[in-house]
Amino acid sequence: MTDVVILAAGKGTRMRSSKPKVLHTVGGKALVQHVIDCAADLDANKTIVVVGHGGEQVKESVAGDGLVFVEQTEQLGTGHAVAQALPELNNDDAVLILYGDVPLIKKSTLAKLLEGVSANSMGLLTVELADPTGYGRIIRSNSLDGKGEVEAIVEQKDASAEQLAITEGNTGVMAVSAALLHKWLPALSNENAQGEYYLTDIIAMARSEGLSVNAVVADSETEVAGINNRAQQAELERAFQLDQANELMAQGLCLKDPARFDLRGSLEVGMDCEIDVNCVIEGAVKLGNNVTLGPNCVLKDVEIADNVAVDANSVLESSKVGSNCTIGPYARLRPGTVLADGAKIGNFVETKKAHIGLGSKVNHLSYVGDAEVGEGVNIGAGTITCNYDGVNKSKTEIGDGAFIGSNSALVAPVKVGKMATVAAGSVVTKDSDDDQLVISRAKQRNLDGWQRPTKKS
Ligand code: UD1
Ligand code: CA
Repeated sequence: MTDVVILAAGKGTRMRSSKPKVLHTVGGKALVQHVIDCAADLDANKTIVVVGHGGEQVKESVAGDGLVFVEQTEQLGTGHAVAQALPELNNDDAVLILYGDVPLIKKSTLAKLLEGVSANSMGLLTVELADPTGYGRIIRSNSLDGKGEVEAIVEQKDASAEQLAITEGNTGVMAVSAALLHKWLPALSNENAQGEYYLTDIIAMARSEGLSVNAVVADSETEVAGINNRAQQAELERAFQLDQANELMAQGLCLKDPARFDLRGSLEVGMDCEIDVNCVIEGAVKLGNNVTLGPNCVLKDVEIADNVAVDANSVLESSKVGSNCTIGPYARLRPGTVLADGAKIGNFVETKKAHIGLGSKVNHLSYVGDAEVGEGVNIGAGTITCNYDGVNKSKTEIGDGAFIGSNSALVAPVKVGKMATVAAGSVVTKDSDDDQLVISRAKQRNLDGWQRPTKKS
């Protein structure tokens, strides 16, 4: 069985934030949550998160099965951090050590690392670095060709000039049996340049006991990159987004510009979908076949059926859209909006908790909230459902085939009958029956010889 230890006690001073570092996000998800989810994909038996700075906040913000939190009250080094998890580790388990601020680590890499773990071997994830500054250097038995056995890790601050020239760096990620950690961690010393208990010292311990260290070299720097500041966060965000974009394009999605696409959640697409630039997709979004999103759309927790066009600058949240609908430009679908097939929501229209029936249209400048709109209804420009009296919300019901004239106010609770017609500019406060004409407005008077006011001298 595998136990995972995630180090997440650091403060992250360089983020210059009141939030613990590991709760900052990439792709809309907390850094540490990425790591927890990756551990879950590995079917870890237990995942132990070592928390310190902002520990309570971290505990409250993350979720996962079999999560255990242990506290490291003082940050005395990575070896000390892992030691806090020892009481939770079963001697028979393999332990994978991960970092709460290294979010893009891949399951496949970790699986490879775990293969190197036995009673007399351990796994170490290293990386070839363009600039190794700051990293622990990997010392191999034949450092000349860099291909020998891994012998030790030397931290930047403890390294000689010769060692500093080594470009293979320690990612920090390791896999080792719990029994060995139980033996080695209490034996670590802090007699080094930083006065810390270095986890990396267990490599030399392993070698001195004749164990072998199976090094796995990471495919890319990005996969093992940690986040210490906003610039690194932004860099990993783009890398993460590009990965997602490539995956979606491989599934057939047409992205007008993969560099201007942001997915902060999950996106399912049918055939021949197209997404224009600068769209942001959040939560769980599902698009049917032949759905197009114009530029600058934001969709959160939305399900859209086939042949739908969402035009530029529309914002849709917690809504369901039937097939053959058109939405926008500049439409806002708020939570609880359900559009039946062929419905049309035009520019500057806001809907909330509204059912819009088959083929019904709300084309311009309207607010439709807490409303049940039948089939084939036409709602004229500037129509408002007055759903709020200052205290309570009430419902507006509009029957099939009704026609609501422009600039009408429907004061809920109110019902408009089937095939009824509401005259433009009406303030409707009483229910109407089917087929009626509803006119509720001041009568027009045309006065002859009307004198306009004149300017007072
Ligand atoms: C560590 C490694 C180094 C490696 C580098 C990769 C050691 C001694 N050095 O160095 O070889 O190249 O990571 O980034 O392990 N943490 C705690 N508690 C502590 C100390 C650290 O939880 O007491 C956490 C930090 O929050 C951080 C991670 O462990 O997420 C790494 O700690 P950090 O101090 O950044 O280690 P480095 O000096 O960068
Ligand atoms: Ca670091």
